[in-house]
Amino acid sequence: MHTDAGVEARLPIRSDMDLVWVRQHVRQAAARLGFGLVDQTKLVTAASELARNTLVHGGGGLMEASHVADGGTDGLRLTFSDTGPGIPDLDRALSDGYTSGGGLGMGLGGSRRLVHDFVVESVPGSGTTVRVTSWVSRPPRPREEA
Ligand SMILES: Nc1ncnc2c1ncn2[C@@H]1O[C@H](COP(=O)(O)OP(=O)(O)OP(=O)(O)O)[C@@H](O)[C@H]1O
Ligand SMILES: [Mg+2]
Repeated sequence: MHTDAGVEARLPIRSDMDLVWVRQHVRQAAARLGFGLVDQTKLVTAASELARNTLVHGGGGLMEASHVADGGTDGLRLTFSDTGPGIPDLDRALSDGYTSGGGLGMGLGGSRRLVHDFVVESVPGSGTTVRVTSWVSRPPRPREEA
């Protein structure tokens, strides 16, 4: 059964300094759940890009973090939301190299590749929510010898 233990942290994203807290929080939460170093870094990198989008394109917002569990597997779910202008063309925004100005256009598509699950909801004129989830990968259990 899939359970969502509820939101454990809510972090504002209003300044460059807040991006530092977001990275630090995600690193610590992932480590505590048992993510290995490489997987922690993937999630921190994705969170950093998404938080920067929330700040730069969304005009600020927040990140919510929650611990999710599915059977014996633990995961971390991060939701970034803002009440900014929204994304008019999601496919275009997700494609590598597209930026509405100034960036490299790698943040959204890049972060999608770094997590297990990626959902964007955006309503032009009212805001954007990006929800990502990654699961702790554990080595498969050794098989019983026949
Ligand atoms: N939260 C958001 N609100 C509004 N528009 C967004 C949001 N996030 C992304 N976008 C749009 O999607 C485009 C692509 O985002 P992406 O993160 O890939 O590139 P970027 O932020 O422009 O550059 P960078 O490579 O520096 O991240 C942005 O240029 C912007 O137009
Ligand atoms: Mg970006």
